[in-house]
Amino acid sequence: GKVAVLMGGRSAEREVSLMSGQGVLSALQAEGVNAHAFDPAERELSELKRDGFDRCFIALHGRFGEDGTVQGALELLGIPYTGSGVMASSIAMDKTMTKRVWLAEGLPTPAYVLVRRAQLATVSVAQLVETLGLPMIVKPAREGSSIGVSKVLHAQDVPAALAAAAQCDADILCEQCIVGDEVTCPVLGEGDTARALPIIRIVAPEGNYDYQNKYFTNDTQYLVPSGLPALEEAAIEALVVKAYQVLGCRGWGRIDVMIDAATRQPYLLEINTSPGMTGHSLVPMSARAAGISYEVLCSQLLASAAL
Ligand code: DAL
Ligand code: MG
Repeated sequence: GKVAVLMGGRSAEREVSLMSGQGVLSALQAEGVNAHAFDPAERELSELKRDGFDRCFIALHGRFGEDGTVQGALELLGIPYTGSGVMASSIAMDKTMTKRVWLAEGLPTPAYVLVRRAQLATVSVAQLVETLGLPMIVKPAREGSSIGVSKVLHAQDVPAALAAAAQCDADILCEQCIVGDEVTCPVLGEGDTARALPIIRIVAPEGNYDYQNKYFTNDTQYLVPSGLPALEEAAIEALVVKAYQVLGCRGWGRIDVMIDAATRQPYLLEINTSPGMTGHSLVPMSARAAGISYEVLCSQLLASAAL
């Protein structure tokens, strides 16, 4: 069969997706798969059918790729695709919706306030600070790769952070900042077969794991094994698997977690349903630690493509 690696797209993470897609494409070709690059920003998805593609590997990130829209189009075309279906993709793209589901299931996630763009002029900064404390994290609700995210140390900087996030999204998520260890954990599979890959602990320069430190500097340290106590690791793995299952995710995902330095309580930040596959990315790093090469990971994900 003929496989399309969907990459590029129209989101702010286009550049990241091109890097992910190129990696996946080369890996699948090296595994003998008849794989081709397909950029939905340049071609209509309906051409997939016309051109005889019978499966898609989704290496798109962000809106129009990771948010259920492309998944819905592929459902209509009847072409199996990697990763989560329409609903899980769509909820996971929205960090506020994700938190609501997790909270409803009793899973820990930092306290938050959702601010709409239309409320920007009237929102009370004092109230936000009173509710969430400082530092506070301000982020677009539906964005990735830390684009539009600020860590606010002083109340006077809240309005600028809100404005920056509002440039990316009409929904702005203000979140309590958990100070402590930053970790991420991939999950593979679906439902009862979902399982965690090794946890990675991220130590970024000045704790600032931003776009630049995610993809372009070599200043971020990635620790796998994480160095966390075994019991703590086991608890986090169980937590992320639950977080993945309650959203109905499929195929793969990567959940970002903060561990409070004082209480050692882990808090779920978000789930990425089309995680980065770049040379700096975390799922391939974790898989490698589990003895799964980048190529084998790509083949296994492709094999899990479904409708
Ligand atoms: N949003 C980026 C691609 C990631 O989570 O890896
Ligand atoms: Mg993300």
